[in-house]
Amino acid sequence: MRKKIVAGNWKMNNNKTETEALIAALSTKGSFSGVAVKIAPTSIHLSHAVEALSDSAIEVIGQNMHQAENGAYTGEISASMLQSVGVNSVILGHSERRAYFNETDEALAEKVSTAVTHDMEVVFCFGEELEDRKAERHFEVVERQLRKGLFHLEAAAWKTIVLAYEPVWAIGTGETASPEQAQEMHAFIRSLIEKVYGEAVADNVSILYGGSVKPANAQEIFSKPDVDGGLIGGAALNADDFFAIVQSI
Ligand code: PGA
Repeated sequence: MRKKIVAGNWKMNNNKTETEALIAALSTKGSFSGVAVKIAPTSIHLSHAVEALSDSAIEVIGQNMHQAENGAYTGEISASMLQSVGVNSVILGHSERRAYFNETDEALAEKVSTAVTHDMEVVFCFGEELEDRKAERHFEVVERQLRKGLFHLEAAAWKTIVLAYEPVWAIGTGETASPEQAQEMHAFIRSLIEKVYGEAVADNVSILYGGSVKPANAQEIFSKPDVDGGLIGGAALNADDFFAIVQSI
C-alpha cells in the first residue's frame, strides 16, 4: 500500500535563528498518523534539524545532491555527506534546479542512480511549463522527464522512489492546478508506470502534487484518488499552515 506524504521544501529560506524557530514550532504541533511528514531545510541546517527533531516523527530530507561520490565539485554535497548527518532522503529534479542550475535529464538520471546505490529515498520532481500546457503537450513533457530521469531503474529500485508532479506554472505563483487537472495527470503517470513496470510498482508509488498548495486548497487536492500527498513550498515556512496541510490528508 502506498504511503501518504507531506513534505515541506524550505528552498533558500531561513537563517540559523529562523530555522531553529521553525523547527521548535513544528515540534510543538500535535501528533499525526497515517502520513509521513518531511522537511527539507537548506543543507547547512540539516545537521541541526536532524538533531532537533530526533524525538519527532518528522523526517529531515535534502533539497539536492551531486551525482559523484566525492571530488572536485566546489559547492556541492554528496549522498554520503547527507547520510553522515542522518539524512536518507533527497529531493531531486526540482524545477528551480532544472531552470536556474541547468540540471539536465541526463544529470538527474545519474543523481537518481547514485541515491539508489546509497539506498536513499528520492523525491523526484517534474512537471510542465505554462507553454507546454497551453500547447497541450503536458503529458508528453511529463512522460519524457520520467522516461529520461527514472526509467533506467530496475523495478526493485522503485520502492525508494517518490514522485512529485509540480507544474512549473503553479510553483510560487498562487495558481494551483485544479484538483481535476492534478488527478488527470497523476492517473496518467500511474498508468505510464504500470505500462513500463507493472501494476505492483504503479500501485505502490506515492505521487505527490506540488504548486501553491495552501491550507485552503489542500483537502480538495488530497481527496483525489491518485494524489498521495503534497510537496509544499511557501506554506511550509509557517508551522501552522504546514500542519494544517498535514492535517488535510
Ligand atoms: P510552492 O512551491 O508551494 O511555493 O508553490 C512548491 C515547490 O516548489 O515544491
